Amino acid sequence: MIFMSTLNIIKEPDPFLRQISKPVKEFTPRIHEILDDMADTMERKNGIGIAAVQVGILYRIAILKTHEFGNLEIINPEILEESQYKMGVEGCLSCPNKTGKVKRPHKMKLSFFNRNKERQTAELKGLDAVIASHEIDHLNGILFIDKLENG
Ligand code: CO
Repeated sequence: MIFMSTLNIIKEPDPFLRQISKPVKEFTPRIHEILDDMADTMERKNGIGIAAVQVGILYRIAILKTHEFGNLEIINPEILEESQYKMGVEGCLSCPNKTGKVKRPHKMKLSFFNRNKERQTAELKGLDAVIASHEIDHLNGILFIDKLENG
């Protein structure tokens, strides 16, 4: 049996969101629980991505709702390459009722660990790469409202 709970989303301007998340060192059952709760929270809030810091947990963990791979859990992600920058409108569960145009890569090669401590690489395209860029920014205390551009 799997138990999941919906967690509260921390909202801007809470300074908690500005902290740098720490790498996961031990892949314990607690990490699986965090991932399950994050997925539940993302689905219930109709999000397309979520970072652990948004639910009050300062680990480098995010979930990307991708077109190509479904819900992609990324732990300790590292961007290996990014290209094809384009402007697009985005929002964030932590910035309700705000949207704006941000320049993001539409192609990204990403390295990360899955929940079983296996190192993976993935090539993300289009919106999948945009979501990855947005969520990895969260792990570094950066919000999309910091990157707004006109036009
Ligand atoms: Co966000």
